[in-house]
Amino acid sequence: MKVTRVVAGAAVAAAVLVSLNATGAPAAPVASVPAVPGAILQESATQVAADSKTLRELAKRTGMKIGTAVDMSALANDATYNDKVATEFNSVTAENVMKWSEIEPTRGVLNFAPADQLVAYAKANGQSVRGHTLLWHNQLPTWLTDGVASGDIDATELRQILKQHVFDVAGHFRGKIYQWDVVNEVIDDNAQLRDTIWLQKLGPGYIADMFRWAHQADPKAKLYINDYNVEGLNAKADAYYALVQQLKADRVPIHGFGMQGHLGVQFGFDGRALQNVQRFEALGLETSFTEVDVRMVMPPDNPKLQAQANGYGILLRACLLAKRCTSFTVWGFTDKYSWVPGVFTGQGAANLLDENYGQKPAYQTVSQTLALAG
Ligand code: G3I
Repeated sequence: MKVTRVVAGAAVAAAVLVSLNATGAPAAPVASVPAVPGAILQESATQVAADSKTLRELAKRTGMKIGTAVDMSALANDATYNDKVATEFNSVTAENVMKWSEIEPTRGVLNFAPADQLVAYAKANGQSVRGHTLLWHNQLPTWLTDGVASGDIDATELRQILKQHVFDVAGHFRGKIYQWDVVNEVIDDNAQLRDTIWLQKLGPGYIADMFRWAHQADPKAKLYINDYNVEGLNAKADAYYALVQQLKADRVPIHGFGMQGHLGVQFGFDGRALQNVQRFEALGLETSFTEVDVRMVMPPDNPKLQAQANGYGILLRACLLAKRCTSFTVWGFTDKYSWVPGVFTGQGAANLLDENYGQKPAYQTVSQTLALAG
């Protein structure tokens, strides 16, 4: 149950209102939140408190889960990484090992071992597990994509294969996953249903089918629809708002809207994250920030690192100020292991800790914001 915050909320809200605006320039403070002198005193005291506590300790009183995606190779081979995952976070997401290509590289041969290791690690460390992801258009096994491309797998068989996959995976982890990313990135950057093999072969009804199958396979898991570039008010987020409205009207068992939060300093930030979260809550959904990182054009410098901290802060404060934003997950926490440099040439430094596990301004912002909210 999320703690209702009052005074701390005012302090957090004040921080929201003086954050950088969408262009990244300091926004003129909006005087609609009364100055709370005590918060200034509290903030200095809170700063001291924050310095000595981990993120999961600070998050405890907020009721919001603070999580990270986990690189299983780093978890097994890097003791510092392993220790940080256990001590800083109370929620974990498999960065890759619950994806179809990793679980079933050969048709009919399911390998849950790496994912089971993460679930066991989470249990041993008192952590919850986010499931990622039952359906995506990336990281599909080649037997599937080749079979569809060659025509060996027709629409009827593809639907059966997809249904089986949901029951295989959500069924295997039944009762162990608190939130599933049931479908990932199903709307494209033009705010249209993404043109994938799923839409081409099965039609738009595949989305509702996925949620119904997932709910049958694991009735306790909260079922999410998840995407990037939907953290503020824009056409893509509007398209999700309309899609969720229709799914709810059709009594589809959808419970949550997942905003990945892959931001970039060079793009500036949409400061309307809270309004976006609140409109999905008004539809009856909970929300989560599921994959937050804030990349930058290398090399880092102090203005970029400060802007990065503000990017993390905008999303975190939106989650803390909302009524049903239940988890805030970073997509990795150290620049030592990040997907960004391999995908965005010349960009990186997207995480809370540097490559030597040193705290960056972003970590301090997350820490202090959690301390203020708790
Ligand atoms: O497992 C294979 C391995 O067998 C092979 O030897 C190796 C070399 O080709 O590749 C390994 O697969 C890699 C996989 O990560 C596991 O390490 C893929 O090449 C690589 O492309 C894949 O990257 C992942 C990426 O999704 C794939 O699109 C990143 O680690 C992961 O952070 C990233 O995460 C996604 C989310 O799932 C969805 N939202 C966006 C986010 C960033 O793209």
